[in-house]
Amino acid sequence: MANELRRAAHISGWGRYAPTRVLTNDELSRMVDTSEEWIQQRTGILERRVAGSDETTASMSLRAARAALDVAELDPRKVQLIIVATVTPDYVFPSTACLDQDALGARSAGAFDLSAGCSGFVYALSVAADLIVAGRYDNALVIGAETLSRITDWSDRNTCVLFGDGAGALVLQANEARGGVLASVLGADGSGGDLLKLPAGGSVHPATSETVDQRQHYIHMDGREVFRFAARVLPKATRQVVEQVGLKVEDIALFVPHQANGRIIQSAVKALGIPPDRVFTNLARYGNTSSASVPMALAEAIDEGRVQKGDLIVCASFGAGLAWAATAIEWSLPLPVPEPPRWRIFWRRTLYHLARIQSWWRRLWRRADARLRRLGEGEDE
Ligand code: UT7
Repeated sequence: MANELRRAAHISGWGRYAPTRVLTNDELSRMVDTSEEWIQQRTGILERRVAGSDETTASMSLRAARAALDVAELDPRKVQLIIVATVTPDYVFPSTACLDQDALGARSAGAFDLSAGCSGFVYALSVAADLIVAGRYDNALVIGAETLSRITDWSDRNTCVLFGDGAGALVLQANEARGGVLASVLGADGSGGDLLKLPAGGSVHPATSETVDQRQHYIHMDGREVFRFAARVLPKATRQVVEQVGLKVEDIALFVPHQANGRIIQSAVKALGIPPDRVFTNLARYGNTSSASVPMALAEAIDEGRVQKGDLIVCASFGAGLAWAATAIEWSLPLPVPEPPRWRIFWRRTLYHLARIQSWWRRLWRRADARLRRLGEGEDE
């Protein structure tokens, strides 16, 4: 693996969040014309999580982000870059990343959302790692978060059995130790865009009462075609990224694929010849959480002690776009990470409260300032 000393982006923190509400296959079979057996056999999913009415992509991503910052022992005020990969942002704009930046009190950070379908997180990780290696930033918070339940047509059995909500986050930090994010492969084939899309709400079909009546604000998918595409690109991208770092598929210690369908994962793993004990899946419990799927799975794998210093981890993803991505990481952190002292946890919580007060104060000040200026202009006239 990477022997020479070079500036690299290392994972120093990870976190995940899943809403508490569990939606089982049994419940779904009472909502649409499906059965527990069909869902389990054709997808491998047993249950998924659904965000509460008070939860959003930003609120879930914040929980994952805070957990990741805690592990990395990184002060939120020192975070330099925040990327949120999502197809279900809180708003079209402002970005969810900016909402997170404000709530975290990450006053030194640039922030933006990245949309690359279910591959969004792996794309974001690649972008952040490359910016760190280039010397532009010393650290980055990379989040994948989705509230797919808000764009799922709960009367469409072709899609509603698949998706779930959640968030995962990683902290990347620069250092010259061995390992870190070694390489990434990013791919796209826009000719397949129609296979998986949210037809309305963009500039082609802005929201109207007709688009709502026609259920155009929900996920539309040709599952069979997406399946075929996924079964092809997942092994291909994995092989490419491993070759890029001069290694072989046999060197992969942990494969973390996008958690979309157990059959897609099995087919890719079989094609690659990766032993099942080197593959991490949590699909049965969370379903397909799009951009959140890889970071949620990776964070869970790390928490379960599935990685060790020196291990080659490959994360690979595919989805709307069509787009796909894979990244190779050499794990560089000794595990387990010691629990932070209580005072530090308390201090971090205090910082988040302060961030909220500061945000409130800035909004108030902006409003007062605008009113004063209007009054001033009135006097001038
Ligand atoms: O993150 C990337 C996003 N998407 C994906 O990764 C999805 C990729 N595709 C898939 O995972 C699978 O194609 C599905 C799970 C969506 C569908 O499984 P499939 O084995 O490819 O089924 P199919 O689409 O070929 O449909 C087979 C039958 C159809 O009935 P007919 O036409 O044969 O009578 C469907 O109407 O299964 C029917 N069907 C269902 N039956 C019961 C489709 N959905 C359901 C359902 N319950 N929920």
